[in-house]
Amino acid sequence: MNTTGNAVRVADIGDIEEGEALQVPAERTGHGDAIAVFHEGGAYYALDDTCSHGQASLADGWIEDGQVECPLHSARFCLKSGEPQCMPATLAARTHKVEARDGGIWLHPGQEPTA
Ligand code: FES
Repeated sequence: MNTTGNAVRVADIGDIEEGEALQVPAERTGHGDAIAVFHEGGAYYALDDTCSHGQASLADGWIEDGQVECPLHSARFCLKSGEPQCMPATLAARTHKVEARDGGIWLHPGQEPTA
């Protein structure tokens, strides 16, 4: 497996198009949930993939203006903080550190993003 410490290389740079997301399965991350990695505005973000409101994959949502909209009931989450931006979600999506380096996208499951 392609790992460094706690980091997992989930894709090559260029694999996740701008405005798109990749669902990384829980088996691959060793985390309790799948994690969605988003590419928006030239930056990468990672959130728990399962919506905090119900059983929907945020990787299947719509990405716009630094937010992802859940495909099931349209709650929106800030990609940076995971905070819900509107109802019906009231709980934040957990954030994870993700970085682009050495030609790859590296996910740090369970580690908070650095500011
Ligand atoms: Fe995401 Fe309801 S499942 S808003």
